[in-house]
Amino acid sequence: MSSYEDYTATSAHYDATRVPIGTEIILGCLARGPRPLSEQVLVDAGCGTGNYSRALLDHVAHIAAVDMNDAMLGVARAKMEEAEVAGRIGFHRAAIDCLPMDSISADAVMINQVLHHLPDDASKGYPLMRKVIGEFARVLRPGGVLVVNFCSHEQLRRGWWFFPLIEATAERMIERHAPLLELESMIVASGFDLCGRFVPTDAVMQGHSYYDPRGPLDATWRAGDSVWAMLSAAELEQVQKRVRDMDARGELENFVADHDAERVHVGQATFLCARRR
Ligand SMILES: C[S@@+](CC[C@H](N)C(=O)[O-])C[C@H]1O[C@@H](n2cnc3c(N)ncnc32)[C@H](O)[C@@H]1O
Repeated sequence: MSSYEDYTATSAHYDATRVPIGTEIILGCLARGPRPLSEQVLVDAGCGTGNYSRALLDHVAHIAAVDMNDAMLGVARAKMEEAEVAGRIGFHRAAIDCLPMDSISADAVMINQVLHHLPDDASKGYPLMRKVIGEFARVLRPGGVLVVNFCSHEQLRRGWWFFPLIEATAERMIERHAPLLELESMIVASGFDLCGRFVPTDAVMQGHSYYDPRGPLDATWRAGDSVWAMLSAAELEQVQKRVRDMDARGELENFVADHDAERVHVGQATFLCARRR
């Protein structure tokens, strides 16, 4: 379960804007796995509404889709009923630090935009993140591939036009993300060799709706990025007033363009690829 976002409520709106970016990168990583792609068992850790599972379903033999939130899992299941009946995907309500699968049973694990939801402690070196990565090491076969899709601090600072609107909250969000090098060293310490870092600089997580300058005024739009769940009601009200004021002055579109300019250089997400030793 996320430690700050109410995914039971969000499940109804998540797919209104959210798209699975970087699936071509994930496929490229999985292709380094111990078996041909079409024979692989893939774990989707924190599958949410199943967007990544659905994108990869036709490429692998089986997906074990795991999430702690019933409502998110329900949306995922509804999308892939036929595949579930055919045994090509299984849905599991479970925590990703205690996966419902045998040791050395999976060929690949992907975790897309989940690690920052753990109720972790940055000052103690993110012990829960370490535990989760250790769990991935347990279920993977030797040579099995781990793909971690997360945001670097630089991406969080420069990759969203609206983060400058919510600077204090953005800093709290940044703390939830382990620095890139620290995350890589956790992965290595858990028994993996790093294979590469990849950034889809042309992709945005909320698809075309990301560019909507009035998005912050709309609850459905805000459900597409959990950073909004970290704002108090008073903070949100302040941001919305600023958006309305800029709109009234005819400055809103320029604000988006100006603050989106660096995103094309840094992207919004980094994909780390590693192989189980
Ligand atoms: C931002 S969503 C990402 C969903 C999906 N991976 C995607 O990229 O579209 C985060 C998901 O992680 C799940 N989650 C958070 N912490 C979890 C945990 N400890 N165990 C299992 N699922 C967790 C939440 O319920 C939510 O569905």
